Amino acid sequence: MSDRTSTPKTRVALVFGGRSSEHAVSCATAASVLEALDRTRYEVIPVGIAKDGHWVLAADDPEPLRLGRGHEPEVDGGSASVVVPTSATDRTLVVHEAGEPPRTLGEVDVVFPLLHGPFGEDGTIQGLLDLADVRYVGSGVTASAVMMDKAMMKTVLAAAGLPVGPYVVITDRDWRRDPEAAMASVGGLRLPVFVKPARAGSSIGISRVSSMADLEAAVEAARVHDPKVVVEQGISGREIECGVLEGHGTDAARTSELGECVVVANHDFYDFDAKYLADDDVRLMTPADVPAATAARIREMAATAFEAAGCEGLARVDFFLTDDGEVVVNEVNTMPGFTPSSMFPRMWAATGVSYPELIDELIALALERRTGLR
Ligand SMILES: Nc1ncnc2c1ncn2[C@@H]1O[C@H](COP(=O)(O)OP(=O)(O)O)[C@@H](O)[C@H]1O
Ligand SMILES: [Mg+2]
Repeated sequence: MSDRTSTPKTRVALVFGGRSSEHAVSCATAASVLEALDRTRYEVIPVGIAKDGHWVLAADDPEPLRLGRGHEPEVDGGSASVVVPTSATDRTLVVHEAGEPPRTLGEVDVVFPLLHGPFGEDGTIQGLLDLADVRYVGSGVTASAVMMDKAMMKTVLAAAGLPVGPYVVITDRDWRRDPEAAMASVGGLRLPVFVKPARAGSSIGISRVSSMADLEAAVEAARVHDPKVVVEQGISGREIECGVLEGHGTDAARTSELGECVVVANHDFYDFDAKYLADDDVRLMTPADVPAATAARIREMAATAFEAAGCEGLARVDFFLTDDGEVVVNEVNTMPGFTPSSMFPRMWAATGVSYPELIDELIALALERRTGLR
C-alpha cells in the first residue's frame, strides 16, 4: 500500500486494450470509467495494452477511446512503455521513454483490469498481478480462466447443479486428426447449432449454423479466434441477464434486477454489430418483464454460478428463458461490458446503484481483499 499521509487518494491503475479481439470494446469501456472516476478520491493511472501486448502509459483522456461506427479505438503502442512488477518485493510501476532515464510511477493501490477476452479476462493478467501481490478488481486466476472457457464453464456450472444446454467440444487435436469425426460428433445436436470459439467474447467468431453443410466453414471461422471450439444446440428463448456483485466480508453475493436483450432486426442473433454498432437494432430492457417467481429463480441461479467458480468482484450471468419457462445458463462474463449503456451497469442502475457508485463498490471490494490465496 502507498503511504496514505502523502497520497490520500486511492491510486488506481486502469488497464485496458489488450491482445484479444475485444481490444476496441475494452478501450470504449475505459473511456467511460476514466470519465466517471471521482478525481477527488482517486488518482488514476491509465495503462493501455497495445494489440501486440506492449504496455504503455496512456493519455488520461476518454475522447480517443470511444467506439462508434467507423471508429475502432486502439491503444497507441508507440507511447512510453510501462513495466509492471513481477515480484512481490517491488510493486512500483516504471515508465521507460526513449532517451530518458526510467521514471517510477510509484505503487498503485489497486489495478482495474478493464480487459475483455483472452490475455485479460482469462486469468493471465490476474496471475501477473498475483505474482506482484497487487490487488485488482474482479475475479482471480481460476474463476477468470474457467469462465472464459465456454467448455470449462459448462462443466463447472453443471457440477453445481445448474442447467446448461447440450454441446460438443472440438479441440485443436480433434480437428487436425479427424475433422470428419469431429463434425460427426455434432450429429447428436438438433439444428440450428451455434459454433463458437471456446475462449472469446462479444460474439466474435460465432456462427449460427442451420445446415450441416455449413458446419465446416463455421468451425474454421471459430478457429481463427481459438483452436478450441464449442458447438451448442440452439436454444430458442428470451435472453435474460443478471448482474452479480461479491458480498462484503462474509456476506453472500448480491444480484441485480434482471435485464433482457431483444434483438430487433437484421441480426441472426445478438452479434457484434448488434452489441456495439447498431444502436437501434437491439433493445436492452431493465428490469426485464419476467414473472416474479422466475426472476427470483434466475437471480438465485446467477448467485450460484458466481459461487461455483469462486468469482470475485463482479460477473454478469446470461440465461435463456424458453417459452415454457425453462431457464438455461448461457454464459458467465467475469468482466462484462462496462460502459454506462452496457447491460451490467444498467441492471445495477435499475437496482439503485449508479455507475459511479458501482465503480466505487468494485474498487472497495478489491481493496478489502487480501492478496495471495484467498
Ligand atoms: N445455444 C444458443 N442458442 C441460441 N442462441 C445462442 C446460443 N449460443 C449463443 N447464442 C446467441 O449468440 C450470442 C453470443 O453468444 P455467447 O455465447 O453469449 O458468446 P459471447 O461470449 O461472444 O457473448 C448470444 O447472445 C445469443 O444471441
Ligand atoms: Mg454473450
